[in-house]
Amino acid sequence: MSTLHVLVLVLLLHSMCSHASSSLEQQVADGDRRALLAIKLELSDPMGWLSSWNRTSSDVCQWAGVTCSRQHPGRVASLDLSSRQLSGIVSPAIGNLTFLRKLNLESNMLAGEVPLTVGRLRRLRFLSLFNNSFRGEIPREICNCSNLVRLSLGVNQMEGEIPAGLGLLSQLHILYIHYNNLVGSIPPSLGNLTLLETLDVLENRLVGSIPASLSHLDHLRSFEVGRNNLSGTIPPLLFNKSSLQYFGVASNKLHGSLPADAGANLPTLRKFFLGNNRLSGTIPSSLGNATMVQVLGLAQNRFQGRVAPEIGKLCPFEVQMGVNQLQAEDEQGWEFFTLFTNCTRLQLIDLPLNRLGGVLPTSIANFSTQIQWLSIAANGISGVVPSGLGNLVNLSNLDMTENNLHGVIPEDIAKLTSLQVLLVGDNQLSGNIPSSFGNLTQLQMFSLSNNRLDGPIPRSLGNLTNLPNLDLSSNLLTGFIPTEIFGLPLLTDYLLLSDNYLSGAIPPQVGSLKHIQTLNLSKNNFSGEIPTIIDLSFNNLDGEVPSYGVFANMTGFSMVGNDGLCGGIRELELPPWLCFPLLWKITPEKMKTDNRIGLTDKYPRVSYLELFEATDGFTPANLVGAGKYVRNAAVAVKVFTLQQSGSSKSFLAECGALRRVKHRNLINIITCCSSVDTRGNDFQALVFEFMPNYSLDRWLHPRTDEQLHKLNLIQLLNIAVDVADAIDYLHNNSRPSLTEIVDTVLLEVQPCENAAKDDKILACLASVVRVGISCSKQIPSERMSMKDAAIELHRIRYVVMEPSI
Ligand SMILES: *[C@@H]1O[C@H](CO)[C@@H](O)[C@H](O)[C@H]1NC(C)=O
Ligand SMILES: *[C@@H]1O[C@H](CO)[C@@H](O)[C@H](O)[C@H]1NC(C)=O
Ligand SMILES: *[C@@H]1O[C@H](CO)[C@@H](O)[C@H](O)[C@H]1NC(C)=O
Ligand SMILES: *[C@@H]1O[C@H](CO)[C@@H](O)[C@H](O)[C@H]1NC(C)=O
Ligand SMILES: *[C@@H]1O[C@H](CO)[C@@H](O)[C@H](O)[C@H]1NC(C)=O
Ligand SMILES: *[C@@H]1O[C@H](CO)[C@@H](O)[C@H](O)[C@H]1NC(C)=O
Ligand SMILES: *[C@@H]1O[C@H](CO)[C@@H](O)[C@H](O)[C@H]1NC(C)=O
Ligand SMILES: *[C@@H]1O[C@H](CO)[C@@H](O)[C@H](O)[C@H]1NC(C)=O
Ligand SMILES: *[C@@H]1O[C@H](CO)[C@@H](O)[C@H](O)[C@H]1NC(C)=O
Ligand SMILES: *[C@@H]1O[C@H](CO)[C@@H](O)[C@H](O)[C@H]1NC(C)=O
Ligand SMILES: *[C@@H]1O[C@H](CO)[C@@H](O)[C@H](O)[C@H]1NC(C)=O
Ligand SMILES: *[C@@H]1O[C@H](CO)[C@@H](O)[C@H](O)[C@H]1NC(C)=O
Repeated sequence: MSTLHVLVLVLLLHSMCSHASSSLEQQVADGDRRALLAIKLELSDPMGWLSSWNRTSSDVCQWAGVTCSRQHPGRVASLDLSSRQLSGIVSPAIGNLTFLRKLNLESNMLAGEVPLTVGRLRRLRFLSLFNNSFRGEIPREICNCSNLVRLSLGVNQMEGEIPAGLGLLSQLHILYIHYNNLVGSIPPSLGNLTLLETLDVLENRLVGSIPASLSHLDHLRSFEVGRNNLSGTIPPLLFNKSSLQYFGVASNKLHGSLPADAGANLPTLRKFFLGNNRLSGTIPSSLGNATMVQVLGLAQNRFQGRVAPEIGKLCPFEVQMGVNQLQAEDEQGWEFFTLFTNCTRLQLIDLPLNRLGGVLPTSIANFSTQIQWLSIAANGISGVVPSGLGNLVNLSNLDMTENNLHGVIPEDIAKLTSLQVLLVGDNQLSGNIPSSFGNLTQLQMFSLSNNRLDGPIPRSLGNLTNLPNLDLSSNLLTGFIPTEIFGLPLLTDYLLLSDNYLSGAIPPQVGSLKHIQTLNLSKNNFSGEIPTIIDLSFNNLDGEVPSYGVFANMTGFSMVGNDGLCGGIRELELPPWLCFPLLWKITPEKMKTDNRIGLTDKYPRVSYLELFEATDGFTPANLVGAGKYVRNAAVAVKVFTLQQSGSSKSFLAECGALRRVKHRNLINIITCCSSVDTRGNDFQALVFEFMPNYSLDRWLHPRTDEQLHKLNLIQLLNIAVDVADAIDYLHNNSRPSLTEIVDTVLLEVQPCENAAKDDKILACLASVVRVGISCSKQIPSERMSMKDAAIELHRIRYVVMEPSI
């Protein structure tokens, strides 16, 4: 054979082969096409993004979101359908796209389970199902995708355990499975993922401890296991990961102390979130060597002792150390604080509820002008508020509540025109309220209560047009109430001026406060008539203003609800008020620790043991309900049995918020106790004003042996209105807004047989009553909102009561 023949033969063979292979490719590409069409069939595509995926258009490589392989023409290598408002489910046909290297379905509304066929996608390097509504378990089959570099299943509703087989994904750099409902523990096999840089399991329901094997992850940069139910100690070698930039274990049940050299080998650490655990011991001075730290989150633990000066040499943006047992008695103890003044980037320093004492360092006025948030509330700090704070021009939150500060309030605070929160109540401040405070027009929370301030209320406070509440109660203020106060357009939460020496007549302008929830003018020297303008429409008023109806003396109530209804709402990061708390009575004599639980103290600290002893070991004999508030008589303790980890989260922080919630129909919270009992179980309690005369529940459902008279329809209606008002307030008006609080309780107020005069009214009442029984965090749209329910109830009450008025 000549070379020419050979060449011809070779060419011939080549063309035959390429013909054969291209028809094979055609076939498999058809397979991809069929698979894509099958996938489209299960999707709802309101924007028409997938209109190019149709039978008349044959080249899948031109279809929206599709990229084809270069080496394997016609095969789909990448499918990117992110943020396309797609809903529906993912067809198992996805597993036929066997050349896929990237599958991105994130930020849609896809539901259903992840098809097991994903396990066939052996070439897959990138898989993101992030931010959808996928349910079911993480399919074990995913562990077959051994080329995965990035796996993102975060922000879905996936259940079951984390497959231990994920430890086989040896190429994995990034693993996001945060914000799901995963249970079980973190598989130790994840410690085999030697290339892992990001591990994020934030906000699941994981239990058990942090596997020590994770400290083998030498490339770990971002470690986030926060908001689970993890217990045990933090593996000490995790602190030796010099690659770490982000370390998050907050809101678990971790205990133990930090190793002395915790910060010695974290040169690139930026975010450090340890808050809301049970960590104890001192804050190691070695953390001062983690000089890149921007957020130092140590709040809500049991850290104690002095804060080492080394910590003050860090220059973070945020220092979160509130709710611990940190101490400072003298200048040395406060050195860390003074050292922070050298930090030009410091924006937040939060130290409330510690045991910081001694004199407030004047260095506080030397903080960086970048500082926006400064709280030293609820410590034992004495001394004066130094002038110079007025230099901190970006300050928006200044909270010095409940200390032993004395002297006058420096006038230059009025220069802080960005202030939204100014709380200096519960101190011993004296002198006048500077009239220049009228310049603080951004204020949304303002309290000077419980001090020794004298002189008049400045008229200029009428310039605080963004203020929804104002508390100047329990001072020595004199003079008239300036009418400007009543003109404050947003004053809808509360105006508390009680316990002063205010005099003159209550001006009729009080009538402009139509929407205020609580107005307390009691215990002053007012003279003259109560303005006639206060009538029926002002039944939210408190104090000396008469509130009509049989329940004038029973306005406080305990919102006792139904365990079954409220259980299982894990988004609810609030103390479960409505979830069957038990209520104990404590008389002051019973509190062995002298004044610590007195009503004068706004946030007294109480321990489990103190409460245990004061209630005689929580004996049933001391179980009480709620009724009318009697000052100084007693306090009540609500103890929660917490099975839900969700409900225990940030209990103390939420309690802080709840303390600020003031409404005529809600019992004031005095303090909270979050602790462990003698058996090591979680123990959480709210301490509030004691209400004698039994609980509302007892009035609604008297025990057979009780002499409580049966309530009539009007009384029931009054209760319903009061409850609706309170819940409406929690939903819509309280600050911070408690929109997620369950809307229940009206359930209790079924119309009763003995008052059935007007069937129509009863039917109407029954329909209103029904709106209250939902326990969902959102009010279903077909039901009335609580606000509408409250309005409707007011209307019905008006109809019912008018004939008798
Ligand atoms: C996917 O592949 C399977 C098996 O290879 C086949 O039976 C099925 O018909 C394919 N599905 C589609 C939609 O092409
Ligand atoms: C089918 O897709 C092609 C582009 O691939 C497009 O031009 C055509 O309008 C589509 N047909 C329909 C019916 O949507
Ligand atoms: C999640 O997806 C929705 C659209 O479904 C989008 O509006 C939202 O911004 C996404 N969230 C994140 C964090 O990407
Ligand atoms: C995953 O791999 C295992 C064996 O390694 C095999 O038995 C199983 O069928 C595979 N699953 C899928 C969906 O490919
Ligand atoms: C993976 O990790 C587990 C538990 O840490 C270990 O028992 C196993 O030997 C590891 N497997 C490989 C292949 O390294
Ligand atoms: C901590 O890490 C350093 C290197 O980064 C290493 O030399 C040292 O042995 C480690 N310490 C422990 C206790 O493993
Ligand atoms: C912190 O760094 C300093 C040097 O900057 C070193 O002397 C000290 O030993 C380190 N502290 C710890 C606990 O590693
Ligand atoms: C602030 O830093 C300067 C120079 O870096 C230093 O001289 C000064 O002592 C520091 N001040 C404080 C309070 O640490
Ligand atoms: C407050 O405003 C008044 C004008 O109402 C002005 O004269 C005064 O200087 C301001 N005070 C401060 C401290 O800025
Ligand atoms: C504040 O209020 C006073 C008196 O009510 C008024 O004269 C003044 O113009 C207002 N504005 C400022 C900035 O003080
Ligand atoms: C209201 O108070 C009066 C006495 O002040 C008492 O007789 C009456 O029983 C009280 N009513 C209720 C419902 O507590
Ligand atoms: C949290 O963990 C503890 C033990 O560590 C367990 O008793 C409790 O039931 C867990 N709670 C939830 C909601 O998983």
